[in-house]
Amino acid sequence: MVEPARVRSEIPWWKRTTVYQIYPRSFADASGDGIGDLEGIIDRLDYVQWLGLETIWLSPFFASPQADFGYDISDHFGIAPEYGSMEDCRRLIDEIHARGMKVVLDMVLNHTSDQHPWFVESRSARENPYRDFYIWRDGRKPYGAAPPNNWRSMLGGSGWHYDAQTDQWYWASFLPFQPDLNYRNPEVKRAMLDVVRHWLREGADGLRLDIFNAIYKDASFVDNPRSLRAIPTEDNPGGFFQKAIYTQNHPDTLAFARELRRVVDEFEDPPRFVVGEVFGSADLLREYCGPSGEGLNLVFLFKSLRTPFRAQAFRDLISEFESAFPEPLHPTYVFGNHDRPRQMERLGNSIARARLLAAFQMSVRGVPFVYYGDELGLSHHPMPRESAQDPIAERFGFIPKLLLPVLRKRGILTNRDQCRSPMPWHGGPHAGFASPDAPEPWLPLHPQSAIMNVAAQREDPRSVLAAYRRMLQQRRRSLALSSGTLELTDPPTDSRRVLAYRRVYEHDDGAETADVFLNFSKRSVSIDLRSLPRGTDLPMYSNLREAPVVARGRHVLRPWESAVVFRS
Ligand code: NOJ
Repeated sequence: MVEPARVRSEIPWWKRTTVYQIYPRSFADASGDGIGDLEGIIDRLDYVQWLGLETIWLSPFFASPQADFGYDISDHFGIAPEYGSMEDCRRLIDEIHARGMKVVLDMVLNHTSDQHPWFVESRSARENPYRDFYIWRDGRKPYGAAPPNNWRSMLGGSGWHYDAQTDQWYWASFLPFQPDLNYRNPEVKRAMLDVVRHWLREGADGLRLDIFNAIYKDASFVDNPRSLRAIPTEDNPGGFFQKAIYTQNHPDTLAFARELRRVVDEFEDPPRFVVGEVFGSADLLREYCGPSGEGLNLVFLFKSLRTPFRAQAFRDLISEFESAFPEPLHPTYVFGNHDRPRQMERLGNSIARARLLAAFQMSVRGVPFVYYGDELGLSHHPMPRESAQDPIAERFGFIPKLLLPVLRKRGILTNRDQCRSPMPWHGGPHAGFASPDAPEPWLPLHPQSAIMNVAAQREDPRSVLAAYRRMLQQRRRSLALSSGTLELTDPPTDSRRVLAYRRVYEHDDGAETADVFLNFSKRSVSIDLRSLPRGTDLPMYSNLREAPVVARGRHVLRPWESAVVFRS
């Protein structure tokens, strides 16, 4: 458990780190207007530090008409006034750094808002110098009244939008007010790489890349082939009855990943990283990182978002990620974000399971991403789609209500307000999200806020929050957990509900080993530690508060308990 500083520094920090995602609109409102802001985040940094997550990823807070709450940027260098000023942003970055933590900013490179001055110019006339900043095509001949080809947006429906002023169609991978930039125009690429350099210069330690898989579209504009699949999945990002081979994961996007990495690597002190939001099979996603890690440093592996909470399913998941992302590549483990159902949904709203998930996420090899509120075990928040703020809710209004829980199970939300409720800080007015005299928050408080909040859980050693903190402490203290290799092992028990793996960190002075056992069942299971050298007398750590139970050389894992046995 001793950390030789010399060895530790050889492993890039971004492989060892743990990430907390903050959705600024929903985290903390210091100005008292019902909308979260940068000042509010500054006020709560001590909490994140106390919790033990080391890096903060902030969803976008740049100037934007907020039609998609910041994922529609109208000025890449400005801050949306409802979130604060450039001065607040600099202070936030400094305050994060002052606590020894890192910051990841969200880069929406694929598209801009339709209010961005480039697009306003672009759509004004065919001859405008900015016309080619976006993707414009004539309608399909001979009539011109149909979209240029069959390409569908990521949300279904044609991604082409007709603009009467110039009698052409523009392409948008996501919503119509988010026109895609044309990266085949060198000026666009240069301008967007300048945006990247700008924020790295401002102190970003990492960048999260929004729908990076959509950056390049095929220059031939030929139709995507048909498919029988209606619902997009991680393996088939197309869906909607077509294979998105000309609109997503294009070879030119894979090449751009390397180009972008070279730009990021211009900033060496400290080293920076990029994590891509990309969709596809683990093998395809690996290509974004390149065989020796020369592309994106990390990619989100979203399969975890629909993996059933069972020992065998998690074993298969590890096995798939380990074989697709061997050293020097590195997997990620994501169980929620601002687009997906809350992780508690898949855990059957069980606090005991949530504490086990914390143990898994903090002990497996890969960067853990924790979405704000998930560390409290906040559950899914059903909200009527009729009053939804999320622009995609309108698009999916036709889906029968009965089907919504099925989609949620598959990791798909048709109304993302449901995972964006204000962070519950305490049981008082507005749950502490804003001062008592502030207006109602932009989204209704979570119905559990009065009991499931930070203040209550900080006091309770059996809470989900306490388990996260405990597991994060274990991880930080152990080189094996933060930086070691991973090998799946046979659990020393007859129960098939125990998942076991070994993390090993070798250094010049020997090796540190952590054996991890996770009981995915509601029954106690006894494990025989005599197979481990000096097994029974080694320090052992549980995800639960109570001391581990050892009886006659056998260790008893209580329901949903984890145990980590350290050796060095
Ligand atoms: C993915 C983001 O995570 C989502 O919130 C956003 O709406 C789309 N990209 C469009 O930028």
